[in-house]
Amino acid sequence: TTPLVIAVDGPAASGKGTVARGLAQHYGLPHLDTGKLYRAVALSLLRWGGDPESEFAALRACEDISSLMDDPELKSEMVGGIASRVSAYPAVRAALLERQREFAGSPAGAVLDGRDIGTVIAPDATAKLFVTAGIEERARRRHAELTGAGLPVHLEDILIDLRARDERDSHRSAAPLEMAADALLLDTSSMSADEALSEAIRLVEGRR
Ligand code: C5P
Repeated sequence: TTPLVIAVDGPAASGKGTVARGLAQHYGLPHLDTGKLYRAVALSLLRWGGDPESEFAALRACEDISSLMDDPELKSEMVGGIASRVSAYPAVRAALLERQREFAGSPAGAVLDGRDIGTVIAPDATAKLFVTAGIEERARRRHAELTGAGLPVHLEDILIDLRARDERDSHRSAAPLEMAADALLLDTSSMSADEALSEAIRLVEGRR
């Protein structure tokens, strides 16, 4: 049997991470949150004091991300914002490509979530989901997540930040966020996490 490879793409705070983790657990597959790779590059750059405006500095920052993959600071909005800048550099995307392809090609199968999994990283994935939700709902979710973690943030600021991130991720020339032609749309706006996962499993089953 061919390995089951599931690509989950979508904008920030759409629920794609929760869906991807749930699918990995359901099918017993390894999961890679590819946003963490870009966040680790951003954090490496920040710690070392490299200039995010420099593609060369960002490329250098790709060299030592392994030790940062479990750093709690990866989750911060600040790191996410810089990640969305450095992820626009073709050199950074190229530097991170191979490890993602390798993960997607693992004999056991895999679930990967990000922005370009179905379009660039795993174009032959068994099932591709494009997970989305209205921007106000996404802002509310991110707000609840951050305040729940004890970070005082304003809903308005999150909305502004998400808009800027969507704009950058969708309009960059290198691997922009877009739905693959053969992807299935999953709008989680009015779904609970459990409902979104059930629907995701139903969609994947339809492609097996
Ligand atoms: O998904 P997450 O918010 O953790 O991703 C952080 C940033 O990394 C995104 O805003 C996006 O710009 C970038 N990213 C990307 N391609 C991926 C995953 C994330 O460009 N496959």
